[in-house]
Amino acid sequence: MTNSSNIYSRIAGTGSYLPEKLLTNADLEHMVDTTDEWIFTRTGIRERHLIADDQVTSDLALHAARNAIESANVALTDIDLIIVATTTPDKIFPSTAVILQNKLGISGCPAFDIQAVCSGFVYALATADNFIKSGAAKCALVIGAEAFSRIVDWTDRGNCILWGDGAGAVILQASQEQGVISTHLHADGNYEKMLHVPRKTTGQDTVVMEGNAVFKIAVNTLDAIVDETLTANGLQKSDIDWLVPHQANIRILQATAKKLDMNMDHVVVTVDKHGNTSAASIPLALDVAVRDGRIQRGDMILMEAFGGGFTWGSALIKY
Ligand code: COA
Repeated sequence: MTNSSNIYSRIAGTGSYLPEKLLTNADLEHMVDTTDEWIFTRTGIRERHLIADDQVTSDLALHAARNAIESANVALTDIDLIIVATTTPDKIFPSTAVILQNKLGISGCPAFDIQAVCSGFVYALATADNFIKSGAAKCALVIGAEAFSRIVDWTDRGNCILWGDGAGAVILQASQEQGVISTHLHADGNYEKMLHVPRKTTGQDTVVMEGNAVFKIAVNTLDAIVDETLTANGLQKSDIDWLVPHQANIRILQATAKKLDMNMDHVVVTVDKHGNTSAASIPLALDVAVRDGRIQRGDMILMEAFGGGFTWGSALIKY
């Protein structure tokens, strides 16, 4: 959706959090029949962080939220909307967003979760953007947070090597200046069974994935969303300063960069250190590149994601 109002939502601050425990490819060599070389060559992943036994998703979200609130320099009482994108909520209900709200020590503002798996952050950002553009919110806390390791089959070598845990957050504020320029969301439930946790139907509560088929569809779909986003805004590939993609597999990131004729220096890559943290991966990558000074105010950022459902989407942002 492109912006026809004169109110924009703008990223006022970013934050992130990674749990302390590291799981390296060498550790995985002791768990399944694999090698560091296979994992790195096929995925670009070297290590990932895992949530501690006594932590839940809202704990990761809380750390990331506090970082973002501090960097945006807003008061807790300014927050009038909380959206958490997660596939691994603390509980079936209430939502992780409500639990987070309480941990932050605030109450009253709307708080809810969004479930779009790896596309969750883009879905959450688009939702918060629309709240702000319509005047329904002025200062939104938007988070992607996952304890994905809790739904991974640690004996499935074609799958368990991919995932990691973490959280990333942004404060999105109403502004006269351009921020979120357009968002583009899609879903196609025909692909439900290619990437899912089939618990309710079969009792299995870990991820089942046709990795190779998912890979090919992801590359083609992300190609199309890049075209859709550029065309909707009348932009050229060269207008994009930074690609901040969902971090699934370095080969998927490279394919999207190629589509954009973009040097990998302009792609924010964290998959090597974080693995695939699902809904958390984009805000985590954004925070890393903002804090290390690569992304500067005024830069044009393209975010894109693809995940279970299938769901996919993009956001074009002037930082
Ligand atoms: N270590 C060593 N060998 C492995 C392995 C591992 N961890 N996992 C799979 N293999 C083997 C397979 O058994 C297969 O062996 P075979 O040829 O003897 O049958 C071979 O490697 C190739 O398997 P394949 O599944 O075709 O590999 P791939 O190149 O597609 O890589 C993924 C597998 C999972 C890394 C890759 O498909 C992928 O990243 N897919 C996208 C997943 C994704 O991003 N999902 C989330 C979307 S948000």
